[in-house]
Amino acid sequence: MSYYLVEPVSAVSGAVRVPGDKSVSHRSLMLGSIADGVTEVRGFLESEDCLSTMKAMRALGVRIEQIGPQAVRVHGVGLRGLRPAGHALDMGNSGTAMRLMTGLLSGQSFDSELIGDASLMKRPMERVAKPLREMGARIETLDGKPPVKIKGGATLKGIRYELPVASAQVKSAVLLAGLYANSPTTVIEPAVTRDHTERMLLSFGCQVDAAHGEVALTPPTQLQACSLEVPGDFSSAAFFMVAGSINPKLDAVLTITGVGINPTRTGLLDILALMGADLRVVNHRSAGAEPVADIEVRPAQLKGIHVPEHLVPLAIDEFPVLFVAAACAQGETLVTGAEELRVKESDRIAVMAEGLKAMGVDCEVLRDGIRIQGRQSANASAKVFSGGTIDSHGDHRIAMSFSVASLRAAAPIKILDVANVATSFPDFPGTAASAGLNVKVHD
Ligand code: S3P
Repeated sequence: MSYYLVEPVSAVSGAVRVPGDKSVSHRSLMLGSIADGVTEVRGFLESEDCLSTMKAMRALGVRIEQIGPQAVRVHGVGLRGLRPAGHALDMGNSGTAMRLMTGLLSGQSFDSELIGDASLMKRPMERVAKPLREMGARIETLDGKPPVKIKGGATLKGIRYELPVASAQVKSAVLLAGLYANSPTTVIEPAVTRDHTERMLLSFGCQVDAAHGEVALTPPTQLQACSLEVPGDFSSAAFFMVAGSINPKLDAVLTITGVGINPTRTGLLDILALMGADLRVVNHRSAGAEPVADIEVRPAQLKGIHVPEHLVPLAIDEFPVLFVAAACAQGETLVTGAEELRVKESDRIAVMAEGLKAMGVDCEVLRDGIRIQGRQSANASAKVFSGGTIDSHGDHRIAMSFSVASLRAAAPIKILDVANVATSFPDFPGTAASAGLNVKVHD
């Protein structure tokens, strides 16, 4: 099993570029596949998760060419052009791929089955199966988990669905099925979640009306192929935002270039600002339907806060690295209303608490969050983490978060079970090295 050996370093600086957005990359393949015409995607994330989606779409009869680094060409087969795969589709480690594909496949004329790796086979799927059944889909799960079996040939009707959890995956699965329904579909969100699906549907010529927490989709007769540009993934940039904030070299600046700053993703900017971080969003531009900017990070004396609950869905993937920042803050940080963290690639509350404790950080696990005692003294560059061995439990974001902790560690950190970093951030060690971190991979 591969592991990282991360040596303590005393500075990060310069400029880093993070790979393309995972959420946007998955969606570009799915919508490109069912569009009429050829969709070209630039900045595509060639990570294991997105390659699982690519493999699935190819198995469903779509020609997808990799035409250069981070560039793909999708030969759309039209709304009704997908063909049976003839075997179970393996979505690897990707919950997004499995849930969105469940929506997309609900509207097809043929049967499908979705499976995944050991982590994905344990994740809840009834959250998508339930509303899709309300639409008329015929879906079976095994005790609420994969394999997900979808019967083809169902007639779907549009529904008005109030999401019981703030989940962009569930919203997106319902909207994708809604493309095949015989009446409009409306999804009502309890809190704002990422809106990449809505933005991309508009780019493909669909009618989507979003206002006051409701998203309404009118079933289209076709999707029109388009050119897409994928911004840098905010969730990958998050590791460097925290690295730059806890940087012991107090006059250093770390710039992360070309980052997607869709406001439904940038909760971490607000949370870190409340903690006293110095993050400056500069050079605003756009990548098609998505806003992009560079983010400059300067070290700051962080303070503990109670993270406002309305920011939780807007920073849902950033909590592991936020916990590292909280350990480097003065005073206590309290996270509540974040029970969703327990059903991600790992139970991110339990796994982060285990790792923080192993490195000497005092924290208390709560049902829906965590309480972390910041270890920051008056000396802004003091060591906070003892170093030692951390088990990432195969969760990419846990592995990368503890790599960032090396900036304030007294001894090397060995991080176990890191192969899944490739699901979202191919060559994380290389990008980390360009900022000044020292992450060595051992097989
Ligand atoms: C995602 C939505 C979020 C997020 C995941 C990607 C998406 O999941 O955690 O990494 O692309 O729609 P939930 O919808 O389960 O919150």
